[in-house]
Amino acid sequence: MKEHNKVVLITGANSGIGLELTKNLLLQGWEVAALIRSDFPNGQPIIIDALKKNHLRVYKADLADFSSLRNALDQIKKSEAKIDLLFNNAGVSFAEYKYSKQGREIHFEVNTLVPFIITMELKELLLKGQDKTIINTSSNSLLFLKQFDLNTVINPKTPFKKLVGPYANSKLALSLWTNGIAPELSSEGIKIRSVCPDQIRRG
Ligand SMILES: NC(=O)c1ccc[n+]([C@@H]2O[C@H](COP(=O)([O-])OP(=O)(O)OC[C@H]3O[C@@H](n4cnc5c(N)ncnc54)[C@H](OP(=O)(O)O)[C@@H]3O)[C@@H](O)[C@H]2O)c1
Repeated sequence: MKEHNKVVLITGANSGIGLELTKNLLLQGWEVAALIRSDFPNGQPIIIDALKKNHLRVYKADLADFSSLRNALDQIKKSEAKIDLLFNNAGVSFAEYKYSKQGREIHFEVNTLVPFIITMELKELLLKGQDKTIINTSSNSLLFLKQFDLNTVINPKTPFKKLVGPYANSKLALSLWTNGIAPELSSEGIKIRSVCPDQIRRG
């Protein structure tokens, strides 16, 4: 069934899972507001067509830079009348410690904190939408951890572990705040879920 006039906001819509989600939802009749840092790849007919029809609207931001994020969120609030579905999809997994523009450990910043900021900032627009749903993209790498380790965030000195270190910690924190805030959002009519995509291999 075609969805008409429904708006989904997708972070990281230009690549990987976000790009496939974008194309899929456009084909189903959704309008997509894409919050992205890099451009869409060339030669994608669905993307080209949707941009022409204004069914795909682009907002540019580096999510690891809060002034850039602030500008994009202001732009979204000015330009979009509502959001039905918010996909916090953008995420990072590095092979070493890196830091955001604010100087914080980047996995926690981009994977945990930024989805929270976007959720809170766009709540008003979600309340104007029909579906009022937020999907946070977590990861089953969190199953490798017994508990959230605040030390790896405020004082990242322990030896770096790929996927099961700061990345898993950031995704555990994402799922924990999603779970924690769900009852409060539910009382306002907003559904929030944390999901783990199946492992995607690139060809
Ligand atoms: N692939 C898997 O097997 C898997 C499994 C479990 C969970 N996940 C989660 O699923 C989500 C999507 O993963 P993917 O495999 O599709 O990854 P991907 O292809 O690397 O895409 C990541 C997206 O996040 C964006 N992003 C990263 N840092 C950003 C920043 N500072 N500012 C703005 N955008 C930023 C990237 O933008 P740029 O193009 O500008 O870098 C890109 O669009 C992630 O949250 C990931 O942790 C993936």
